[in-house]
Amino acid sequence: MTAVHETPAPPRTGSPLILGTMGWGADRDRARGALRAGLDAGITVLDTADIYGAGVSEETVGALVAELPAAAREALRVQTKTGIVLHEPGPDGRPRVRYDNSPAYVRAGLEASLDRLGLAAVDTLLIHRPDVLTPVADTVRAFLDAREAGLVRRLGVSNMGTARVLEYQRALAGLAADGTGLQCVQMELGLHHRTLVEAVVLANHDDAPATAGAADLGAVCAAEGIELQAWGPLAQGRYTRGSDGSVPRDRAEQAALAAAGGPAAVVAEVALELEVSREAVVLAWLLRLPWGVRPVVGSQDPARLAACAGAEDAAARMDGAQWHRLWTAARGETLP
Ligand SMILES: NC(=O)c1ccc[n+]([C@@H]2O[C@H](COP(=O)([O-])OP(=O)(O)OC[C@H]3O[C@@H](n4cnc5c(N)ncnc54)[C@H](OP(=O)(O)O)[C@@H]3O)[C@@H](O)[C@H]2O)c1
Repeated sequence: MTAVHETPAPPRTGSPLILGTMGWGADRDRARGALRAGLDAGITVLDTADIYGAGVSEETVGALVAELPAAAREALRVQTKTGIVLHEPGPDGRPRVRYDNSPAYVRAGLEASLDRLGLAAVDTLLIHRPDVLTPVADTVRAFLDAREAGLVRRLGVSNMGTARVLEYQRALAGLAADGTGLQCVQMELGLHHRTLVEAVVLANHDDAPATAGAADLGAVCAAEGIELQAWGPLAQGRYTRGSDGSVPRDRAEQAALAAAGGPAAVVAEVALELEVSREAVVLAWLLRLPWGVRPVVGSQDPARLAACAGAEDAAARMDGAQWHRLWTAARGETLP
């Protein structure tokens, strides 16, 4: 395993935040508001998948991107995912989930995504979840064929452990003539889902989380120059409930927020100290990690997205004590 843990994090290409579109349904006005707010917040990457809304997310992304002026359209990167079969009926007629990363499925999935998006190519295709029955090299060959056909520029993966990520990296190194590597790995990561962080910090401790092979993923991604994207970074609002995206302005407001207790109160305290929104604090906790993490934010609320824009500044000013206070509060226990 090639893990050079001292290597600095890879520079992020584009905005620190990515706009997730899993919730973009048929309500185009709501999605349009999210896209505008995302662009205003400096976001340059849209994340979708063939299974989101059974294709409706991709259709909405495609329609809204087509409405943009040419310059804004060209500055946007669209990434999509394939490899999960979600709506196939089982013997009892009810849909069963399975994973398929075979060349035929990946190529057909990508072509169907491009149709829905109305695009000639996507920037990045992510393999959504691992299909253990398909050798990684077969999936990589399918990506390279699609790239040759001009349908996609880069390859990413999602929800995969370190060994499989490195298998992709090695297969690309062996098969791609131009030395292209894996673009990104997308994993659930945030104050609510701290596995990748706690696996490092609590190594060999009784409270160490079960990581199923992803324990050193953050450092390995940084060392390999692979972008680590964090899905679910706002924890669906668990730590910012009731927020309108504004910065808590005074001690009275902070005291009211803190009265609830628990991790949300610590998020509010740190927001007051840094004079940023609570959303910015939650995302800054991720950006502060030395792995070049890019949160994939799933909000459609323009005020919340505007609040998220302060995350990079908050991360630059968040000190180690504040970071640890947030972590400890989310964990619900003091550190060993
Ligand atoms: N690779 C994968 O397997 C995978 C899995 C899941 C998701 N994803 C990607 O990651 C993106 C983000 O995932 P996510 O949506 O689960 O994560 P998220 O960004 O943590 O959560 C966004 C959701 O939480 C709500 N929310 C946030 N703050 C709130 C608050 N203070 N009060 C009430 N509601 C609040 C948002 O509602 P509002 O719209 O009202 O703000 C939105 O529904 C998705 O869009 C998708 O692109 C990838």
